[in-house]
Amino acid sequence: MTKEQAQQRIATLSEELERHNYNYYILAKPTISDYEFDMMLEELAQLEREYPEFLLPSSPTQRVGGGITKEFQSVRHRYPMLSLSNSYSKEDIEEFIQRIKKSVEGEVEFCCELKFDGLSISLQYENGILTRAVTRGDGTQGDDVTTNVKTIRTIPLKLHGDFPSFFEMRGEIVMPFESFNRLNEQRAEMGDDLFANPRNAAAGTLKLQDSKEVAHRRLDNYCYYMMMDDLEERYQTHFESLMAARQWGFNISNHFKVCRSVEEIMDFISYWDEERHHLPFAIDGIVLKVNSYAQQQELGSTAKSPKWAIAYKFKAEEVETELLSVDFQVGRHGTITPVANLAPVQLAGTTVKRATLNNEDFIRQFDLHYGDTVTVVKGGEIIPKIIGVNFDKRQAGAKPVAFVKACPACGSELIQHEGEAAWYCPNAMDCPPQVKGRIEHFISRKAMNIESLGEGKIELLYDEGLIRDVADLYTLTYEKLYGLSKETPILDENGIETGKTRKVSFREKTSQNIVEALEKSKSVPFERVLFALGIRNVGEVVAKTIVAEYHDIDALMKASVEALSAINTVGEVIALSVKSFFEDERNLRMVERLREAGLQFSKTEETRSDKPQILAGKSLIVSGKFSIERDALKRIIEAYGGKNVSSISSKTDYVVAGDNMGPEKRKKAESLGIPILSEAEFMAIIHEEDAGAGTEMGKSVANDAASQLSLFD
Ligand code: IVH
Repeated sequence: MTKEQAQQRIATLSEELERHNYNYYILAKPTISDYEFDMMLEELAQLEREYPEFLLPSSPTQRVGGGITKEFQSVRHRYPMLSLSNSYSKEDIEEFIQRIKKSVEGEVEFCCELKFDGLSISLQYENGILTRAVTRGDGTQGDDVTTNVKTIRTIPLKLHGDFPSFFEMRGEIVMPFESFNRLNEQRAEMGDDLFANPRNAAAGTLKLQDSKEVAHRRLDNYCYYMMMDDLEERYQTHFESLMAARQWGFNISNHFKVCRSVEEIMDFISYWDEERHHLPFAIDGIVLKVNSYAQQQELGSTAKSPKWAIAYKFKAEEVETELLSVDFQVGRHGTITPVANLAPVQLAGTTVKRATLNNEDFIRQFDLHYGDTVTVVKGGEIIPKIIGVNFDKRQAGAKPVAFVKACPACGSELIQHEGEAAWYCPNAMDCPPQVKGRIEHFISRKAMNIESLGEGKIELLYDEGLIRDVADLYTLTYEKLYGLSKETPILDENGIETGKTRKVSFREKTSQNIVEALEKSKSVPFERVLFALGIRNVGEVVAKTIVAEYHDIDALMKASVEALSAINTVGEVIALSVKSFFEDERNLRMVERLREAGLQFSKTEETRSDKPQILAGKSLIVSGKFSIERDALKRIIEAYGGKNVSSISSKTDYVVAGDNMGPEKRKKAESLGIPILSEAEFMAIIHEEDAGAGTEMGKSVANDAASQLSLFD
């Protein structure tokens, strides 16, 4: 290929890929399979590697990320980023409309839109190319986050159609609930702090240095306002400009309406107050904008906000009730959480009896006293929140709520880390909730997967004195278990009691299952055992990375902090945690007892990489029933270098389908053009590559499948 041909091909591929991106993400009407898309993208990336001089800032390969922003540059906004004044009632809206009608000539139309709950972004386009993306900052200047923003699929990098040569598009970057939940699940697994809501998660994501990580987190964007000189000469109304922007490739929500009366506006508000619960992302209100640009100009702006727009904020359902008492609970990681016991009250369809008080600062901030009348709202969390105190109703002589000094579970003196509001119990080894938390982690699905011991059973076994650490689990027998029974509290994800309880009973079948599951867990590979030990900062991925370097626990115990830190992606913090775990005598004894029980403390043959790594870089999903255990099949995939993923996406390379694979999954795989292999086909590939064995049929299948495999390389 000549240089000119390469340049031409890069231009064609870029254009086509951007068009397919638009069809997929904005129109939700893909015209090619994900597989074809990925092939084109890979071809483009390859050409750009060969001819870096033709790599354009608007290239679709930028969406995959890779660029690092060491420091975000502060840049001045060409047009200030104003905010909106808020309103909370029909009266506020009526007043706003009256004021507008009095100030302008003629009929007034209002564009009613969703108020996206994310962070605002200013997108600058020059000759149809996204040149800069800047956060709101203080409204006058914000941070240049262009590299990260380019990974957001609903933000066009190159426009099509009749766009102005220079303009800014304003919009909101949001994190859809699906991305948010997935991110928090991953963080929980890693022992990282969870994001409180999608807005915080979106803000944190946009400021990441590594744009590849931003790309993984799947942010989304909705645009809602255009800025340029002489805007009103080009378009008469806001509505018109949004329709034009949609033509050029911007993501404009369908959920907006031009209204003329208070009634129409209030109907729109009431509709979305209910319907918002079915949206895939968060909104916190409705925005009303005067539709005509001429009228907007007439009305003008204050220094802070335009006079032609207002936000109506939805109310969270709230109710007043009495604070009866406060419990101090110890979470799995030793954090002390104060929980309010309330006089039972109805809220959003359920009876509320408890509310979280977060930490000591929270109690201080509200100057809480026993017997106070407090206002409670239901947020996204399981336990409701207190948002205010009615001081007028405080009883004379009421006693202030004081934070405990000692751990309510074990009596240890509490400690506080510098700069943190939380108090901790330092007695990680013996404090019952912390010990139970570690055992719960040990049995969890991604660790030792002893599921039959879940749902309150650890609580009961601990309370009965049968277990004090994870090694004790392997001393349990059918005789010890059978017949145990107790009402135990249901905890939330932080180990805090939700106020609900369940009856836990060890019947015949349960006890049998547990004994069998414990036995089976002895073949769980070393990397999962290492993760199960619950070493601080050692999540599932880190455990795998460590085991790839240190094949058995003896080698790992001897490893120095320097050697551990040198492993790619491990770093000093993790290395220090590993070291201090193995410096504790009691941990060493526990590991010894687990080893004696027969757990895997070295890499098994299956997980050693002496198999040909023919699946390296490939993501596979196993679905359905197989002739062997599903976990065994997954281990085979890993042994051959493949990665097991749990949900089908455009990034999935293969589905290995067993009997009864769900029809939905099959449909999705087919629609994405992902090859579906039967168990025999998969095994044939493995055997063909590995031992050169296999049946004649298996071989021909293997050849077909292997040639498909090579298509990806
Ligand atoms: S228009 C000059 N429209 O709400 C008008 N803003 O408190 C600029 N927001 O900073 C804003 N959805 O981040 C507008 N449909 C929408 C919006 C919206 C969310 C955010 C935006 C703004 C904040 C105002």
